[in-house]
Amino acid sequence: MRGGQVSAALPRLPHSGSDAALVTRMLQLFSVLIAAGLFLACLTAYVLDNYTVQQRSYGGAGGHPRGAQPPYPGGSMDNVFWFLQVSDIHISRFVDPQRAPDFQKFCTETIDVIKPEIVFVTGDLTDAKERNRIGSRQYEIEWQTYQTILKKSRVLEKTKWIDIKGNHDTFNIPSLESVNNYYRKYSAFKREGSFHYVHQTHFGNYSFIIVDATPSPGPKRPFNFFGFLNQNNMDELLKLASETVYSNQTIWLSHYTTSTIISASPGIRHIMGSAVAYLCGHLHTLGGLMPVLHSRHEHGTLELELADWMENRRYRILVFDHDLFSFVDLKFDKWPVIVITNPKSALYSSPGHEPLGKIKESTHIRVLAFSTANVTSVLVKIDGITMGSAVQIKGPLHTLLWRPMDYGAGVHYIEVHAQDKAGRTTVAGHKFTMEDIKLLPFDVMASFIIQAPHHITLKVIFILVLLINLFVIIAFRYLAKPRFKDTPGFFALVNFSFHVFSKTNILYYPVLLFTCYVAVGPWFIGEIIDDHFGACFVFGIIVDGHFLEGSLTFFCGILQLTFFNIPLICYLCWCLLLRCRGAYFRSHLKYTGWISSGLMHISLVGFLAWQAYACYFLQKTYGIVAFFLSPVRTWSLALALALVYKVWNFNNSTIRTFKAEMKNCL
Ligand SMILES: *[C@@H]1O[C@H](CO)[C@@H](O)[C@H](O)[C@H]1NC(C)=O
Repeated sequence: MRGGQVSAALPRLPHSGSDAALVTRMLQLFSVLIAAGLFLACLTAYVLDNYTVQQRSYGGAGGHPRGAQPPYPGGSMDNVFWFLQVSDIHISRFVDPQRAPDFQKFCTETIDVIKPEIVFVTGDLTDAKERNRIGSRQYEIEWQTYQTILKKSRVLEKTKWIDIKGNHDTFNIPSLESVNNYYRKYSAFKREGSFHYVHQTHFGNYSFIIVDATPSPGPKRPFNFFGFLNQNNMDELLKLASETVYSNQTIWLSHYTTSTIISASPGIRHIMGSAVAYLCGHLHTLGGLMPVLHSRHEHGTLELELADWMENRRYRILVFDHDLFSFVDLKFDKWPVIVITNPKSALYSSPGHEPLGKIKESTHIRVLAFSTANVTSVLVKIDGITMGSAVQIKGPLHTLLWRPMDYGAGVHYIEVHAQDKAGRTTVAGHKFTMEDIKLLPFDVMASFIIQAPHHITLKVIFILVLLINLFVIIAFRYLAKPRFKDTPGFFALVNFSFHVFSKTNILYYPVLLFTCYVAVGPWFIGEIIDDHFGACFVFGIIVDGHFLEGSLTFFCGILQLTFFNIPLICYLCWCLLLRCRGAYFRSHLKYTGWISSGLMHISLVGFLAWQAYACYFLQKTYGIVAFFLSPVRTWSLALALALVYKVWNFNNSTIRTFKAEMKNCL
């Protein structure tokens, strides 16, 4: 039997001569596979259990203590105020010269028309990217532009302006005291750390908790994407949350979505349970893929990501009308603007947090309509039937008498057509209900993006890919190589090539060590922040004695394994197969087709080029030292080239044995 002769020449290659041994081997293989399967099943169950989107049903108005108490929405201008949110402005000295002037027009015209009580700017005030769009640093001129807009427009005299930091505002900042921390110098609110702002009116108090999750020290991009809340930050936020119990409504705001914050126990979502909504930005529209990123958390809190000012020129108007929460995401310079505040939207209702019973007791439909020209008509339709024109009460408020009990059952659709003197019209509408029915569901994809804690998802996927990769190459080293039957098929050949790979020390050990290194060793050492050296691992970054937990680094880890390590192994296996048939690089075309050979070499060039680009990217982001001191990026290119050279040229007893075996069977 051929296999028997071969194994004698190889280290630790088991003897597979007898059927009994074969059965034992098969059983061993099965138990390994079952163990791996069980492990994967446990991980999957854990992931599904923790991160699938849950939609609970709530008992309508019953959830709120003042659910059905007066005051009720009526025909007068009372118990209502509104405010704005704008996010991710990214004032840039290099791109989109219209961005800043448009923002100035927003600060003058839009603010003058809407007259919000407060404006929240939720981070990324400046772009802080270099001309090449890869590197990052703070540019004072961008901050000065921002400040000049605020000054020239005199917007700070017209409204309360609360601007907070985003991740771009912390790029390349070693500490809060650094002179480059221009937020301290040029922003309007100049407040770092989380805080509680109370908006007082004669009809109640409204709490706003601003969550500062920006990292300090702030690394350069790209590894400055996730926010952090450590145990101290959490304790502080818990204290702030407890202060809101006397407020009519509470809103939380931050730059980051809760899914891109790495927070200490019990986690940001568990402490904002008393808020009607959590407002944020940061993800823009995911490059246009997700124009709307809204969802609702387990305890009813809405999470409402706002698209960016940067490219999409978005802003949001939010209203509390008789403590019912309404909002609309708007495009800059599109008039008229309509917000229907009573009856409020069923999709965006939060029964535990809003007195939804007031809708049933209300006497009027209430609409806020704004425009640069006078609003001439506000036409209301319900379920397609025209109800009449709402009359202007005061300012933007228009109301229309109605009988809510006509709509007591089921879900209905309200639509408002507003026209202004300039002849422009806007149509807006939403579903509403007065029943205690199951809440309307949000888009599943949006919910996933808003709700899954991505740093954990990425970590789990990375570990899975790593384990599968390691399992395969280690398993083939210790598994008995099966006998060929007659002419081997594709899978038998693939199988054979992996056996050869894992049993060839000069290939197996470098690849095994390199794969392990990706998981445990520093990827690079370099200027994480200008003049501050640090080490980047897949599980986090160490800089200036601080450890920033890994997140996006795991994503890079997944890419590294799937687009470099694994293709490299596959390429080496293919080469080994040809070597076993007697080929050398010069002669290999005799043994294989032009097409398969071409595809393999193109893919080799492809993943080497991809890695070379990663090295270039590293140099542009973290500097020349990082480029040279990067085992996983720059050095791995050299390793790959050395292995490719070796696989075509080496000649030792192992390859000769496999060659002999191959010859016998083909
Ligand atoms: C705000 O809360 C107070 C106290 O609970 C209540 O009296 C008041 O009516 C509420 N305001 C509105 C607009 O419902």
